[in-house]
Amino acid sequence: MIKQEWIKKGFVDEPVDSSLDLKKEIKRLCKEKNAVILAHYYQPDDIQEIADFIGDSLALAQWATKSDADMFIMCGVHFMAETAKVLCPEKKVIIPDINAGCSLADSCQAEKLKAFIDQHPGYTVLSYANTTAAVKALTDIIVTSSNARQIVESLPADEKIIFGPDRNLGNYIKTVTGRDMLIWDGACHVHEKFSLEKITELKKQYPDADILVHPECKSTIVNLADVVGSTAALLKHAVKSGKKRFIVVTEPGILYEMRKQCPDKEFIPAPSEDVSNVCNECNYMRLNTMEKLYNSIRYEYPLIEVDSDIARQAVKPINRMLEISARLGL
Ligand code: 13P
Ligand code: SF4
Repeated sequence: MIKQEWIKKGFVDEPVDSSLDLKKEIKRLCKEKNAVILAHYYQPDDIQEIADFIGDSLALAQWATKSDADMFIMCGVHFMAETAKVLCPEKKVIIPDINAGCSLADSCQAEKLKAFIDQHPGYTVLSYANTTAAVKALTDIIVTSSNARQIVESLPADEKIIFGPDRNLGNYIKTVTGRDMLIWDGACHVHEKFSLEKITELKKQYPDADILVHPECKSTIVNLADVVGSTAALLKHAVKSGKKRFIVVTEPGILYEMRKQCPDKEFIPAPSEDVSNVCNECNYMRLNTMEKLYNSIRYEYPLIEVDSDIARQAVKPINRMLEISARLGL
């Protein structure tokens, strides 16, 4: 029985017996329920370690469409779970803590976007995956940081584009493609907080290091980058590069997989301007814990629900993204 108190809290707040082998129990429950654990690269290390699949936001959506599991436990943030539910409405989609939101998604409310679109007829609307299903329902094509540039370039050169909600990713894509883009004024509170001064100092200390930057960072930081890309693209570069040292300017959860795939290389998390959050962890991503994950599978709660009319509209631009990505081999 789901307790009222859990509904209020947004997760199953049941004490977990400390003598339990949590990993073993989670695996057992997954097998029993034909459930799979999908985790984003920003998740805590122990969750990435136990996940059936880890990836960036594009890969998580692609994976969801191919899985024959009955239940997904999305260890990431709410928009990732919502995307999986929109793509697979017949499946149960669970997130360990429903409070795992996203400041970028919060920076674009559907009603305000609708008014903006109405003011600009003739524009094609591209929205970043970091948006609510209601925003996706107003969108022509969804993009992620893995495919935004290629999707913009795949459109006719004279196509007028509304791009939201991330102003940093939008400005970066506008600069590299030279396209006509109106950009929403949203941002991620984590990526906006990397310190230009401290990263410049680090580069002086380690001149041999490549600087790897996620495009949600401000342009002053992007300008320092040797490589700009999604979490998956930064990981791929680290694996194939001949370099031995990297300054990583994104959420430090990605370091788990970088260090796992490249044990002989050094990864230095970029410092934040915020002294209380030294290497800039995403507080939303970190709400998921092994205990909440265990309880969420046990009680099949919190479940992701999406209004069926919104889901019917939202699935179209997500599928357009998946089709273009497949065509482009992304
Ligand atoms: P990726 O698409 O690179 O996984 O990024 C998702 C995200 O939330 C970045 O902050
Ligand atoms: Fe959202 Fe930023 Fe956290 Fe990514 S890092 S989930 S964009 S708040």
